[in-house]
Amino acid sequence: MSFLNYENDILKFEDISIREIAEGRATPFYCYSKQTLTNNFREFSDSLTSLDATVCFSLKSNSNLTILKTLTELEAGGDVVSEWEMRKALQAGMKPNKIVFSGIGKTASDIQFAISNNCLQINAESLDELDHINRIASVSGKIQKVGIRINPDIQSETHKKISTGSLEDKFGISIEQTYEIFQNPQNYPNLEISSIAFHIGSNIKDLTPFQRTFEIIGELVAKINSETKKINTVDVGGGISPEKRNFTFEDYRNLIVKYFDTENLKFIFEPGRLIAANAGILVSKVLYTKNITGKKFVIIDAGMNDMMRPALYDAHHEIMPDVRTSEYDEINTDIVGPICESSDVFLNIQKFNKVKSGQYVILKDVGAYGSTMSSNYNARPLIEELMVDGSQIRIIRKTQSYEDFIKNEI
Ligand SMILES: Cc1ncc(COP(=O)(O)O)c(C=O)c1O
Repeated sequence: MSFLNYENDILKFEDISIREIAEGRATPFYCYSKQTLTNNFREFSDSLTSLDATVCFSLKSNSNLTILKTLTELEAGGDVVSEWEMRKALQAGMKPNKIVFSGIGKTASDIQFAISNNCLQINAESLDELDHINRIASVSGKIQKVGIRINPDIQSETHKKISTGSLEDKFGISIEQTYEIFQNPQNYPNLEISSIAFHIGSNIKDLTPFQRTFEIIGELVAKINSETKKINTVDVGGGISPEKRNFTFEDYRNLIVKYFDTENLKFIFEPGRLIAANAGILVSKVLYTKNITGKKFVIIDAGMNDMMRPALYDAHHEIMPDVRTSEYDEINTDIVGPICESSDVFLNIQKFNKVKSGQYVILKDVGAYGSTMSSNYNARPLIEELMVDGSQIRIIRKTQSYEDFIKNEI
């Protein structure tokens, strides 16, 4: 169910119009719908019935503390990739035994922090890293649970820049090496290597790559466990697209049941986009419009520093005016930001509502990998974030001030 809808041509988010949300505020700003976030999380976790499952929301998609607290109230765990992400997860109240630490290049302080704060498991992505985790665990006098992130060499048919599961990609350890690691646990006396992890890419709309991955890894887990009984947890990563999928959550769960011994294994899920993407919008204002030789440009006040997904990996985000009219411009139009880069283009469109300076436009589905990827490029502040709940509005991150921006520079 969408909570972003026109009512009498006025765009509303939950029970409040964009105009009311924006009144008296500087644009651009992010705004999240609490009900969307909650529904998305519940719908997914409820679909995993009969599995021993921990749903670890992927903080890289959105790590705002209020978003994390909202999900923690629903019993979410966290998938983190840095010490600060883990700090935020803990600060939001996530239980350490529901936090999985992923990432291809963890530093000594990341690993140290994860171990000393009793994270559920650390997913290792190279033999070098396994040695490193083992050494740090040994100094800490602890036995750390570890998952081996496998690269199953699967093409996930998503954008090249968000594919992670083929041997062309930098992620994970090969199946052969993984098998050897499980044959030689004596090499890692301070590790309990008892999990397999994978994540084949993001925004996956087709079930086939999941099916091929589950088949390959299900076979490997069965083989290892028939010899050593070592693996008790499978971390299936994230990657499910929130929209235009050709499969249901039930289809996805049924595949897990088909390829894994669900009676004896625990499962970790790491959804990010699925939970947060359509819970967030970016509200911006039109600064100027101009026509140059048959092409129109609508220049808005949000830039690629605020939301870099279109510039980074050609992400498509619908843009909606806050008031819909029957007047359209039927001309090749680029909706662009103010940043001094030609790639600062949000959308190319052939027909768009006539808009003029000062009008609000709304970028849809930016709750994941929107704010977390933003930067100060062009010396612009990190922008305000709000959450709506019915007709209530809360500020959940203040706009960065100039003093904050400059304070660590000498
Ligand atoms: C290891 C891992 N888990 C989970 C995710 C979340 O993916 P998504 O937001 O597509 O669900 C990512 C995204 O890059 C990832 O790298």
